[in-house]
Amino acid sequence: MSEKSFHHSWNGEHAQKFAKSVENMKKSRYIPFAKEIYKFIERFVKNKNPIILDVGCGPGYLLIEIAKLIPNSQLIGVDFSEDMLRIASEKAKEKGLNSITFKQGPAEKIPIAEAHNDAVVCLNSLHDFNDTEETLSEIYRITKKNGIFVLKDKNGAYPKWKVVLGFIPLVCKSGLKRTIKYFKSNELWLDPEKIKKKMEELGFKIEYQEKKLDYLIVGRK
Ligand SMILES: C[S@@+](CC[C@H](N)C(=O)[O-])C[C@H]1O[C@@H](n2cnc3c(N)ncnc32)[C@H](O)[C@@H]1O
Repeated sequence: MSEKSFHHSWNGEHAQKFAKSVENMKKSRYIPFAKEIYKFIERFVKNKNPIILDVGCGPGYLLIEIAKLIPNSQLIGVDFSEDMLRIASEKAKEKGLNSITFKQGPAEKIPIAEAHNDAVVCLNSLHDFNDTEETLSEIYRITKKNGIFVLKDKNGAYPKWKVVLGFIPLVCKSGLKRTIKYFKSNELWLDPEKIKKKMEELGFKIEYQEKKLDYLIVGRK
């Protein structure tokens, strides 16, 4: 078992618990990021029916918000957890969304053809994958020329004292136990500068970046 799979098992009860724990983050997390994605797609993607893939899609909440904002898009959710994907397709079905399809597979070997997507998005998942470099090169492979990669994740280079301050609202909202669990994942968070460098080495042109407690990087192929 790898160190990361030791930290998290994403199947069974854990998938259920994760889906439940982020269910109420629609307004604070998923809608704002879907709006940012929409903005970048409008700016860089010419295809009026864009193919958008979410790698490490989990329970699919982000895809649902993208589907509402860009109803003419074709959406694909990829995750290695069968149980996460089952939850995601149930949620999409409940909302009557049939523009989303789901594929099971590892981020390090995405089961999608080369240059297939206008946009790849990834939210709070990159630090969980087993191999960051392999994942980034897979994302590059499946992105069309001029297509974009919109990445948001926790900032591993953010000063620790600021991370702690940032958690105060979380303690109030979600309680100490959940905050401690979340804080422990801090050791896995990645340095956005290293991610950016790797993306540039692969051939992505960095179009936008932002570094706070979360970082946001947009690369164009
Ligand atoms: C923290 S969750 C984030 C889920 C979703 N992006 C969200 O924001 O709600 C991380 C997701 O990555 C998936 N995952 C972890 N390692 C993976 C891997 N190597 N390949 C594919 N999916 C993976 C997990 O199953 C889980 O659904």
